[in-house]
Amino acid sequence: MTAKPHVVAFTSLKGGVGKSTLAVNIAGALSLKGKTALIDADAAIQTSSGWATRGKLPVTVLKEGEAIPTGIRYLVVDTEGRPALEDIAALTHSADVVLIPTAPNSVEVEATARLLQQLPATNANLDRVYIVITKAQPVGTVGQSARDELRSAGLQVCETVIRRYTAHERAHEQGVLVKDAADPRSENAWADVLSLTLEVC
Ligand SMILES: Nc1ncnc2c1ncn2[C@@H]1O[C@H](COP(=O)(O)OP(=O)(O)OP(=O)(O)O)[C@@H](O)[C@H]1O
Ligand SMILES: [Mg+2]
Repeated sequence: MTAKPHVVAFTSLKGGVGKSTLAVNIAGALSLKGKTALIDADAAIQTSSGWATRGKLPVTVLKEGEAIPTGIRYLVVDTEGRPALEDIAALTHSADVVLIPTAPNSVEVEATARLLQQLPATNANLDRVYIVITKAQPVGTVGQSARDELRSAGLQVCETVIRRYTAHERAHEQGVLVKDAADPRSENAWADVLSLTLEVC
């Protein structure tokens, strides 16, 4: 009998926060630890599937509903932006960890706060939900301050702050993990991905 895979899912009320960017790269980092599949559950935009066809990723990318190959140890789920609240609640039961990427600006912080205020009225398993600060300026401590403020408000926030690097955009264009992107800051960007991967698995 094969063990159930560890499932890491990304969601957000707001679109364009960095779900696909993190899903692809976390899946790539997890593939160093065990057989990993990435589910592209965003049928409309298909960022993860497109990423894989442009270049080379070390993970199998599946469409939602496709059979999961045997022996998969880690499953990463990239979802569409602006989902129904019930879909997010359901995700908190099907996934072991649900990550909500949020940039340290008031628009994204408010959208995430709104989501977290609404979730308790559903049957969501809030223990599994974590905010992850993304697209933080590499210089200064704006990202860390946002993380600490959200924690003070009683929310679960990952320790790792994902910094804003053009390397992430290059990786998307080139269809590779950020560590393999032709960009001078690819190592810095990858260090953030590894740190978050260790935290969530
Ligand atoms: N850490 C980062 N540094 C720099 N750019 C980033 C970072 N994370 C994401 N981006 C950029 O932000 C944009 C949106 O990212 P992405 O497509 O991952 O978001 P998304 O939440 O999946 O969007 P959607 O809701 O449309 O699915 C892309 O141009 C991506 O390259
Ligand atoms: Mg996306």
